[in-house]
Amino acid sequence: MSNALHRDLARLVERVEREDGPRAAADPYRQRFHLMPPVGWLNDPNGLCRCGEWYHVFYQYGPFDAAGGVKHWGHYRSRDLLQWEKLPVMLYPDEPWDVHGVYSGSALVEDGVMYLYYTGNVKQAGDYDYITAGRGHNTALAVSRDGVSVQSDELLLTNADYPAGLTCHVRDPKVWQQDGMYYMVLGARTLDDRGEILVFESADKRRWRHRNTLTTPEKFGYMWECPDLFGLEGLSFLVCSPQGVDRQGDRYQNIYSSGYFPLHGDFRGEYMLGGFTELDCGFDFYAPQSFEDRGRRLMIGWMGMPDAEYQNPTVESGWQHCLTVPCEISRDGTRLLRYPVPELEKLRQERVAPENAKVFDLEYSPQGAGKLVIRESLVVEWEGNRITLSFQSGDAGRTMRRACVEREVEHLRILADASSAEVFVNRGERVLSTRYYPAPEARGIAFTGAGEAALWAMGALEIQ
Ligand code: FRU
Repeated sequence: MSNALHRDLARLVERVEREDGPRAAADPYRQRFHLMPPVGWLNDPNGLCRCGEWYHVFYQYGPFDAAGGVKHWGHYRSRDLLQWEKLPVMLYPDEPWDVHGVYSGSALVEDGVMYLYYTGNVKQAGDYDYITAGRGHNTALAVSRDGVSVQSDELLLTNADYPAGLTCHVRDPKVWQQDGMYYMVLGARTLDDRGEILVFESADKRRWRHRNTLTTPEKFGYMWECPDLFGLEGLSFLVCSPQGVDRQGDRYQNIYSSGYFPLHGDFRGEYMLGGFTELDCGFDFYAPQSFEDRGRRLMIGWMGMPDAEYQNPTVESGWQHCLTVPCEISRDGTRLLRYPVPELEKLRQERVAPENAKVFDLEYSPQGAGKLVIRESLVVEWEGNRITLSFQSGDAGRTMRRACVEREVEHLRILADASSAEVFVNRGERVLSTRYYPAPEARGIAFTGAGEAALWAMGALEIQ
């Protein structure tokens, strides 16, 4: 929308990107084939969609502070997921219902029009994290007819419109159309500190009524953020990012988790959630969102995690965090597989010798146990059905992550960028994603163990 606050904020964002952008761009840890904020902070992917011939990726963007700050929706678009155009910020915290942040949300596309549903965050004076009050979490709708600017913005729901028994933490609308109606899922925290998902229904995209609530019989964390609900080959899946799930051995090792429940039955009525499976077992993965792209389901996550031990060196260069590569989601029974979209193979350049590898795509079929050390920093080790990530250097305060697959580690695909690695085990059965910070000049992969490897240097996304 265009009001005075919008205009002032737009000028400030443009100025900070112009003035601080070059310092961020010169950072050796700047990524080559992952989307990042031009300056400042990034968290969740938002509003992922395909609209006409364009893919749109919005993201939680704090342009004024590499450690967070007030959230806007940053914006990139692309026709092929490889050449990207950086567009002006789409949503600014410029309305009374979103002054302390345009929080996460989603896009519904209909007849070429983009409906952006988001949470408007309003912190009240005093303890704004007080359980029952202190924060307005408003559900709002911005409409864009051209995909690059917003023509109308309206408030749809306030805390008073959510069901009784909830704290002020209700957020992150994900909206879709089904059976002639519109559905919205929202993440929520109850007064007795349980995470759950609210299902709302609407006939006109604007007036919504509470239809159902989804949760587990036993408490599973205190807040479920960023819900996503979709059907895949006849089975529904509820994806969410629960906070407050305690570590159990190799599971839930990060401060916050993210994963999915298979949903049996009908999300509008009688349903049952199957067991929760994490979507990633590395250090850096949260708040994933999926969207439909002509028959395939794509997912992008936030490759970051605000854990206390993490000392991300990029903060000194005025930026922090990035998104994962886009992955395709498929299913194997009640399990989801996550694997990079084939488009990324177009970034493969010449084959490279292991000792020269720096930014690369590796496919490796190990025979038995083995280990590889990437750029004298990140250590990937496997034996039988177990795989671990640890560090020789460049850990930024992190230690070790471990995961298991069903049978044996048979195939590894590693996408390593300047400061991240995404390790896909057995073609997407497990994924471990992490940032890492090798010495900028360090190169090479040291292999221990037998197996066949194909290794390519990776090119960069074109971002204009
Ligand atoms: C998840 C989250 C969302 C919220 C957004 C704010 O990382 O906490 O629940 O909408 O980030 O930036």
